[in-house]
Amino acid sequence: MAEKITVKDILALKNKRKITMLTAYDYPLASLVDQAGIDMVLVGDSLANVVLGLESTTQVGMAEMLHHAKAVTRAVKQALVVGDMPFEAYQLDTAKAVSNAERFMFEAKCDAVKLEWFDKCLDVSREIIKAKIPLMGHIGLTPQTADKLGGFKVQGKDAEAAKKLIEQAIALEALGCFAIVLECVPDKIAEMITKKIKIPTIGIGAGVNCDGQVLVIHDLIGLYERFKPKFVKQYINLSPMIKKALEDFKAEVIAQKFPAKEHSFTIKEEELGKL
Ligand code: KIV
Repeated sequence: MAEKITVKDILALKNKRKITMLTAYDYPLASLVDQAGIDMVLVGDSLANVVLGLESTTQVGMAEMLHHAKAVTRAVKQALVVGDMPFEAYQLDTAKAVSNAERFMFEAKCDAVKLEWFDKCLDVSREIIKAKIPLMGHIGLTPQTADKLGGFKVQGKDAEAAKKLIEQAIALEALGCFAIVLECVPDKIAEMITKKIKIPTIGIGAGVNCDGQVLVIHDLIGLYERFKPKFVKQYINLSPMIKKALEDFKAEVIAQKFPAKEHSFTIKEEELGKL
């Protein structure tokens, strides 16, 4: 069996080959992502939208994130598992950020945590890194604070805004983050950041020149029908296939075609006769 991927392995991939990361929130999909040889599994707070049917990622907390992270780490043998810190874990109460990051590592057995840029991001990141917890940054469109960014919009579209993103990336690298997610950033700005820093950039809506790419797995496999962002490529559309299977099940139960003989258990005639 191949060995578990470490933070050191992820760092070493920069300028060697592109890095892959997908989200997963449960045992079966995490296991498939791992078997496909994806480098990192992100237990994203997108759990809120694609699994729990909530409107905003700020509506999930530590309890839900740990519950799902535990299922993912039970399944994953090889990929590096990153636990996504929910809003309440570090933005509402920054003093609790380190202990919440430790819960991802020790209770849920994640290999690293990720947090989104916000006004106290550098202070919180510094404390988490001081506690020797591998940390992934996340800049650009940060859904937990999207209202402060003017909504779910591409970030860094003018020189001043792009300069801020570059400064954030450099600051996160200087603190000791091992990678940074760039979400919804113009491709040329993502390329500039990728060239400026020595740690890998993982893009989502940030063009082909990032060091790696991440997608939400439900978008990739067509299991989320409410919304499809421009940056998503759907590699398979499972929803209609699943719907068809469920309709077939219903029709066969009504027509008494299911269960067939091969799905049923028998008893010897002589035993039946005794009843
Ligand atoms: O929660 C999530 O799925 C994420 C990715 C979009 C990077 O943070």
